[in-house]
Amino acid sequence: MQLVYLVQHFYASTVLPSIMPPLAAHHIKALTKLSPHLPITSSLAHHFTDWTGKYPSRSYEAIKTSTDQWHGTCILRPANVEQVSSILKYATTNKIPVVTQGGNTGLVGGGVPIQEDEVVLLTSAMNKIIEFDKDTGIILAEAGCILETLQDHVRPHGYEMPIDLGAKGSCQIGGNVATNAGGIKYIRHGSLHANVLGLEVVTPDGKVLDLSRSLKKDNTGYSLKDLFIGSEGTLGVITKVAIESKPISKETFLMLVGFQTFPEVVAFFRQAKRYFGMLNAFEFWDQVAHEQVVHHLKLQSPLPTCPFQVLFETEKDPLDFLEESGAEQCVLADSVSQQLNLWSLREGIPEALSKCGKVWKWDVSVPIDRMMSVVENLEGDIVSGYGHLGDGNLHLNIVKSSMSKEMERSIYAKVASMGGSISAEHGIGQAKSEYLPLSKDANSLEVMRNIKAVLDPAGIMNPGKIFPSASKEC
Ligand code: FAD
Ligand code: MLT
Ligand code: ZN
Repeated sequence: MQLVYLVQHFYASTVLPSIMPPLAAHHIKALTKLSPHLPITSSLAHHFTDWTGKYPSRSYEAIKTSTDQWHGTCILRPANVEQVSSILKYATTNKIPVVTQGGNTGLVGGGVPIQEDEVVLLTSAMNKIIEFDKDTGIILAEAGCILETLQDHVRPHGYEMPIDLGAKGSCQIGGNVATNAGGIKYIRHGSLHANVLGLEVVTPDGKVLDLSRSLKKDNTGYSLKDLFIGSEGTLGVITKVAIESKPISKETFLMLVGFQTFPEVVAFFRQAKRYFGMLNAFEFWDQVAHEQVVHHLKLQSPLPTCPFQVLFETEKDPLDFLEESGAEQCVLADSVSQQLNLWSLREGIPEALSKCGKVWKWDVSVPIDRMMSVVENLEGDIVSGYGHLGDGNLHLNIVKSSMSKEMERSIYAKVASMGGSISAEHGIGQAKSEYLPLSKDANSLEVMRNIKAVLDPAGIMNPGKIFPSASKEC
């Protein structure tokens, strides 16, 4: 079994300062008495690696190939906040690292363990919708509720969740809040900081913070819930979320428009913003992404050969606007099924690219008119740009068997030189910790570390995530 410790993967070796031994048997015994757990077998190996497959934990290979029970860690699946509290209390007392895992759809290696001794805390059993107020649209749900379940719950009452993303069928509301996820409705409803009204959180010492008040206005000192939005499991475990769903637009129009150049896309966006005032969505992708999604997901394309495509949704009739804008290639969805087909062309892109090989992802904020300059002149088997253009959020994806640190760094440096952010919506996780100083000044980073130290003095919550290790530089 010792050989397992030699299993190195291309990422872990650069992040981890030292190799920790597996958890002692008496700790596993004590923890599994505190909460329901899943006996570890190879069928649970997926909890030890992420959606991209780029961040397997040190024990992943061994667990994947072993048909016996693995003895070095444990997967706990608490059913309620009391169990979460007792797990964290025990973990802090005994300095045992804990990684919280929701739907495990994160794209920065944040929800998977790194070392062998980390307890994986699954939130999936805490999946009750506690209450929904049909008058206000406010929904209070346990953190393990799947986003799509909540969307389906509020829709018959005339509401939509303020967040929507391609991973909706697997990601959980707790994971959405912990990553401060963005997605395609961000342009319409704003960030989760605006829409989450309250949280229930367990801090590493086992204290339960009741921040879950379903009030529109609550101005009582520090906004603690905002500290946990986007904290990526490094400050505590979110167990409940109160969030405001929004009335569904009475009528919507969805259009796919093709362009020859990116400056035309930018000009079109600015015109649309002025004309409509409010847009429900404004997404774009390049020809490379389009070819892959059509090919791998076997989709029909109404505009097969445009260098750039834009998918945008409005509440106002767009016909006059489309005429005025001079858009030459345009499709207006005329049924719900056509709307869904057009959305598949956009939402299927990450999956299609993942079928092409190893995908390297940059999720960045940059000035809109300079977005494609980040994508141009890069080497790779496939280089593609797409994203939430209306929010200035570019997803640069490069399919390539390996990625040099120089290339990774130079792309982030370019983004920083434009005044952009190295993470628009996916967070930092393991993937970007060493580049965080490009987007956070030293004083701000120090305050972040101090907050972490106050809440998590034993450093048990999701170690190796967000914070750059002292030896790393960018
Ligand atoms: P996980 O992946 O399980 O965890 C993510 C992080 O949150 C980890 O650090 C974990 O420790 C922490 N965490 C999870 N649950 C809790 C909790 N209850 N308490 C404390 N910490 C917790 N992201 C976007 O922002 N916009 C998109 O448009 C988008 N589209 C995507 C499309 C696809 C196809 C895929 C695969 C991913 C996409 N993502 C997107 C990324 C991902 O879906 C989001 O980051 C999502 O919010 C993660 O939720 P999850 O439940 O899967 O969390
Ligand atoms: C998206 O917008 O499709 C997601 O953020 C996922 C990705 O970047 O690939
Ligand atoms: Zn996105």
